[in-house]
Amino acid sequence: MSSSGSPEVRVVRVDLGARAYDVLIGRGLLAHAAQLIEGRAVSPLAIITDSIVLGHYGPAFEQAMKPRGLAAYRLVVEPGEASKSMTTAARLLSELAQIKVSRAGTLIALGGGVIGDLAGFVAASYLRGIGFIQVPTTLLAMVDSSVGGKTGVNLPEGKNLVGAFHQPRLVVADLDTLTTLPAREFNAGMAEVIKYGAIRDRALFDRVANGTTPQDDDLAGIVEKCVAIKARIVERDEFETTGERALLNFGHTLGHAIEKAGGYTRYLHGEAIALGMRAAAWLSVWHPETQLPEADARALEQALLDNDLPLELNPDISRDAVLQALGHDKKVAADGGNRWVLLKKLGEGQSGYTVGPDLIQKALSLLSNHP
Ligand code: NAD
Ligand code: GLY
Repeated sequence: MSSSGSPEVRVVRVDLGARAYDVLIGRGLLAHAAQLIEGRAVSPLAIITDSIVLGHYGPAFEQAMKPRGLAAYRLVVEPGEASKSMTTAARLLSELAQIKVSRAGTLIALGGGVIGDLAGFVAASYLRGIGFIQVPTTLLAMVDSSVGGKTGVNLPEGKNLVGAFHQPRLVVADLDTLTTLPAREFNAGMAEVIKYGAIRDRALFDRVANGTTPQDDDLAGIVEKCVAIKARIVERDEFETTGERALLNFGHTLGHAIEKAGGYTRYLHGEAIALGMRAAAWLSVWHPETQLPEADARALEQALLDNDLPLELNPDISRDAVLQALGHDKKVAADGGNRWVLLKKLGEGQSGYTVGPDLIQKALSLLSNHP
């Protein structure tokens, strides 16, 4: 807390011209939310949250709004990925119409990545687009999903198949909310932190390699670093057209396939990404264009272990199911397959590599073994 009684806030600007916004990072920010969002939102506000986050932070957040006359409606969904659906989005859109939120109104997404993606999509669609503010309450949402404007919902056919690029007007990341987050969810967010270090910043990687907790004095600096890395990438490739934004998908090619093969219930997103990063690190060692030093791949494995992330694929997930999800079953293997993000060294990733089916099989074998 600063001497004036206001919380200390780190600010990362996402400089997207007319769509520029700030990401505010600090402790105790929710109690000052009205002051922080003043000028960026007008009543009526509609807060979209899930019932778990509502229980922890809803009343205090709404209370903080009241003195500044920022009356808020509350729209609540069930916690979990299943709420990131067209059905839930349609219900929320109807509720906004019923309470007559106008084009000047603002949505507030209070929660994790599910709420941010869902509320962002609703904000992008309602009246052809209204403003929204991200108030992320998971580590994953703070360092990744609340920044960059990707919003969307899932279809039965697959994840994130419907959506829009719709940048928030502001992001308020109160690190104190992470103290109620289950440890498993916090660690899943750490997978994305490790990702940023691996692709862009060796010093960040070293800072988190031995494990981090929500109470860590350095957490604001760590989140700030991650957000700054993402902001610079999004500024250069907002709509993922040049390949630079694809760099953020390190570990995600195989990670997404593992998530899908596990029915989206076996692993949290960050856990599947941890497995995908382990595989991608060794692919980087074996790939002739990258030749990552083995010591770097081992350091990445150790960092995942020290952050309580999985390194071995659960035997109840079949290799065929992962290959199928990767689009690498026999039918399509000949087409050259997916594009991968690989590492030249820890702290330097590059997107756009092709990896042949033999190396993918080798990587999947590796995931059956403890390092
Ligand atoms: P989540 O939103 O489901 O939250 C995880 C769980 O933690 C939920 O049960 C939630 O109720 C609970 N929770 C949230 N904050 C809490 C708190 N402070 N205290 C206690 N419990 C809390 O999951 P997530 O990992 O934050 O987000 C995953 C989603 O993010 C996925 O749908 C993924 O596709 C998406 N995502 C989007 C982007 C993007 O760029 N838009 C990037 C990465 C991931
Ligand atoms: N999470 C990847 C991106 O925002 O592009």
